[in-house]
Amino acid sequence: MEKRPQFGNRVLTNPENVFQHNAWDNVEWDEEQEAEAESKVAKNSATKYEDDADQFWDKFYLKHQNRFYKDRQWLFTEFPELAPEGVPSESTPQRVLTEGAVSCPSDPTPFTLTSPASAASEDSFGDFPGKTSKTRFFEVGCGVGNTVFPVLKTNNDPNLFVYCCDLSANAIQLVHENPEYAGGRCHGFVADVSSPSCQLPFPENSLDLIILIFVLSAVHPEKMQETISGLAKYLKPGGKILFRDYGRYDLAQLRFKDGQCLQDNFYVRGEGTRVYFFTQEELREMFVKAGLKEEQNITDRRLQVNRQRQLKMYRIWIQCKYSKPLESF
Ligand SMILES: C[S@@+](CC[C@H](N)C(=O)[O-])C[C@H]1O[C@@H](n2cnc3c(N)ncnc32)[C@H](O)[C@@H]1O
Repeated sequence: MEKRPQFGNRVLTNPENVFQHNAWDNVEWDEEQEAEAESKVAKNSATKYEDDADQFWDKFYLKHQNRFYKDRQWLFTEFPELAPEGVPSESTPQRVLTEGAVSCPSDPTPFTLTSPASAASEDSFGDFPGKTSKTRFFEVGCGVGNTVFPVLKTNNDPNLFVYCCDLSANAIQLVHENPEYAGGRCHGFVADVSSPSCQLPFPENSLDLIILIFVLSAVHPEKMQETISGLAKYLKPGGKILFRDYGRYDLAQLRFKDGQCLQDNFYVRGEGTRVYFFTQEELREMFVKAGLKEEQNITDRRLQVNRQRQLKMYRIWIQCKYSKPLESF
């Protein structure tokens, strides 16, 4: 039997002989092979969560379908603007702010009217869904519609049109398949609002409300300011952004394991989706920089208990309302 040469002695000189032995020593890599490896490693690093964010959310919705997020009990009590004519009688009573919560004294509970969208700018935009509707809401990162459908059901304003978008095509497909989508009062589409090339299907200055519920936390922190400033342009003067998301040191943040932190207060979950945990000041800075006026910026601190397992869960959410000033337009 042929004696196996020592390591370092079997060199592949003719590529055609590659399968004549199980291994070769001192193998040279060509440039193409080197570049391929480099790009693969780059993809394996944290940037893949940014580059492929849509795919991670797509996989999330493929797996969970419409079973993960639930319609929220608090939607109309916290955001009466979503159904200004009144909320269903079974809705929960007004929330009392917990200790540490800071409420802006000017928080207006009644819905303040926006100024009408400029007809000139809408005409120059051409035809678009919801063009003939006077009242327009837009939910960003709508998932499978846990806000959009309750709003369409509760708000009977015949002039209301609701746009909703999500990064995930699977989520939007589930929105389209919902029987309540067929009413012609809604337009759901795929969009990445954090992308500078994001094109929205309605003109600037045309929206009464923009709804951001647990979505900004999924955007890379370096893109948050641009995202908010970009969205603010679409509000009518007097229009509002309604925001609710994770607060700093919420239980969900404290539960992350070592290695899941991508950068300060920004984490990746096991399935590749990401989440940021905000302070009130960070949000105030971003919304104000986008030219908006503070109506509300509160911390909602809650102790939830599992009585059976004797567990205490300290939850922290931040809720904000920022409006586009009437006077600057
Ligand atoms: C935590 S989920 C919340 C879903 C929904 N707002 C709710 O509360 O049920 C975040 C959602 O934002 C979407 N999303 C993340 N980044 C986005 C982006 N840049 N543009 C649009 N949607 C995005 C995700 O696909 C996901 O559906």
